[in-house]
Amino acid sequence: MDDFVRIVEVGPRDGLQNEAQPVATADKIELIRQLSLTGLRSIEATSFVSPRWVPQLADAAEVYAGIERRPGIDYPVLVPNEQGYNRARSVGVEEVAVFTAASETFNRTNTNAGIDESLARFAPILERARADGVKVRGYVSTVLGCPYQGEVAVSEVVRVARALHDMGCYEISLGDTIGVGTPRKARAMLKAVASEIPMPALAVHFHDTYGQALANIDACLDEGVRVVDAAVSGAGGCPYAKGASGNVASEDVVYLLHGIGMRTGIDLLALAATGRWLAARLGRETGSKAGKALAAL
Ligand code: HMG
Ligand code: MG
Repeated sequence: MDDFVRIVEVGPRDGLQNEAQPVATADKIELIRQLSLTGLRSIEATSFVSPRWVPQLADAAEVYAGIERRPGIDYPVLVPNEQGYNRARSVGVEEVAVFTAASETFNRTNTNAGIDESLARFAPILERARADGVKVRGYVSTVLGCPYQGEVAVSEVVRVARALHDMGCYEISLGDTIGVGTPRKARAMLKAVASEIPMPALAVHFHDTYGQALANIDACLDEGVRVVDAAVSGAGGCPYAKGASGNVASEDVVYLLHGIGMRTGIDLLALAATGRWLAARLGRETGSKAGKALAAL
């Protein structure tokens, strides 16, 4: 089995979209610069959503225009609608991510649209992206539980993931938005989705609210997934998901992967240093256990 795992670093986007304090545009650009030197191949840079909904990322255009895009690294951004796509393209974005959910109530809270309505919004984006040569990733949120509806049917996760894949998303990221999943459930969900979509087109995206993220990732690796989303220093959370805490820390994921003999191409010490730098900028300790341990060496 292939032992290379691609980490999709979502810290600059998922990590910062919920920050209580404003983060300077220059710091966001510096974060992406540092991450670009660690060996990461995908760095989600920001989000072209409505600044009224997510004021923390209102500077998306300035951030994207300010980063140095290094060869061999993709810098995707979130877009919720065509307006976001236009804004992203005007600063030269070459990969976007669209996002919906497996829970109707969550999706309405997060994007003011039902699931099918959001899929309909994406259709013209996918069409234009195809013509523009832009890659499109798709997110399904609340795959293991919803803050408003509770249990989420696996059949609904499969249906929505499939719709995104059929539309042309090259990769579907399955998000445990509020971090309520546990390993067997996570693995069963992934297996169900992989029965309809090829595993190489799937990614997992775990928040660590209940401390289960690494265990969930390990279980999903056993099932065959080879793309894992994570945020340096464990930053993050969705402002429209009550109770959502940070993403799993990228440093902890890389430590796990290297420990079980998998390759990431990432320099763990450099990544951990970046995590501590970010945490210091945000006025706290890093949320990565590996990041803390490596600082003490
Ligand atoms: P809406 O209010 O229904 O939008 O929001 P609208 O089309 O009626 O427009 C209202 C206003 O917003 C207008 O401005 C538009 O111009 C503006 P006004 O005329 O009133 O001044 N607007 C925009 N401005 C800039 N860029 C845009 C844009 N679109 C509209 N793209 C909308 C609908 C989808 C826009 C809104 O709900 C939104 O932006 N939601 C995003 C919420 C969000 O970012 N959530 C976090 C990301 S998802 C996540 O974290 C989960 C994930 O990590 C995976 C996981 O963990 O599961 C991905
Ligand atoms: Mg998330």
